[in-house]
Amino acid sequence: MTQPTAVKRAAVLGAGTIGASWTAWFLARGIAVDVWDPRPEAEAYVRRYITDAWPAMARLGMVADASPDAWRFLGSPEAAVAEADFVQENAPERLPIKRELYAQIDSVLRADAILASSTSGLIMSDMQAGLGSASRFAVGHPFNPPHLIPLVEVVGGRETAPETIAWCLEFYRAIGKKPIHIRKEAPGHLANRLQAALWREAVSAVVTGLASVEDVDTAISAGPGLRWAVMGPHMTFHLGGGEGGITHMLDQFKPAFEAWWASMSTPELSAAACQQIIDGVAAEARGRSIAQLAADRDAILLPLLELTGGGS
Ligand SMILES: NC(=O)c1ccc[n+]([C@@H]2O[C@H](COP(=O)([O-])OP(=O)(O)OC[C@H]3O[C@@H](n4cnc5c(N)ncnc54)[C@H](O)[C@@H]3O)[C@@H](O)[C@H]2O)c1
Repeated sequence: MTQPTAVKRAAVLGAGTIGASWTAWFLARGIAVDVWDPRPEAEAYVRRYITDAWPAMARLGMVADASPDAWRFLGSPEAAVAEADFVQENAPERLPIKRELYAQIDSVLRADAILASSTSGLIMSDMQAGLGSASRFAVGHPFNPPHLIPLVEVVGGRETAPETIAWCLEFYRAIGKKPIHIRKEAPGHLANRLQAALWREAVSAVVTGLASVEDVDTAISAGPGLRWAVMGPHMTFHLGGGEGGITHMLDQFKPAFEAWWASMSTPELSAAACQQIIDGVAAEARGRSIAQLAADRDAILLPLLELTGGGS
């Protein structure tokens, strides 16, 4: 295997939202990229994406001695992976599509190449079954957009070799990401399960009339969300326990949390509930376009990443 710190060429399969962003990040880190996507328009999309992403990555100090032009758009997945030390797969979230793609490249991958799938929720054991290269396939799940958000969840399948997991963790760390190892396969891995748990309660609050969509969002963005950008829920509660830390916090609040958990339920995302959320988000957006909202978010996200070391 190529040393995780010595990757010179990556392949990106599927160059939509996630593949284009990974391409920009690999280039910024000095890794040449061979891209394949069945949509011919994807080449122009990737070019535009790199141009747009470059200033933000430069601001984070992540563009070291790198060229935004060190990439090629190739005509087949076989051609794209032929020379790659590492493959990041970002095809649509459908098991048959991923399996067909893997079958196509299985025999042309370099014998030491590692493949990571960006899948948000598919299980690697299902995707890798029957492949000659299965032991070198893992999940490397990023958060959108991968060129800004540091987290990558690394998950192995039944046939993934432990060395592949170790390699992926070291590789992502070496290119400036914050990888974590998810030790078992679970739908949604870990971070999306955490998001889903919170959103379940957020939807419940709206549909049961506890608060408006906007107030639910403010409850997070002006409250615990500020702390969560700095430290996770366990460490946050360690501080919540004062001098006694997490031990005192558990002593004091255990009954309250158990009672709150017992009072929670899963809302049904009925047509009416969906409409209530859509209307609430429209009211909260106050006519701002998606592009404007994303720009407003990034104006705060970039300095935050600089402060939290997300770009180092
Ligand atoms: N969008 C997100 O927030 C997000 C976050 C993390 C991970 N992911 C994961 O990344 C992957 C891609 O998602 P996306 O949001 O970029 O989707 P997307 O629809 O933006 O892009 C998918 C791309 O794959 C291409 N494609 C179609 N058939 C293909 C094939 N057979 N082989 C290769 N590429 C093919 C499409 O032309 C398209 O450009 C999914 O597995 C998804 O779960 C998405």
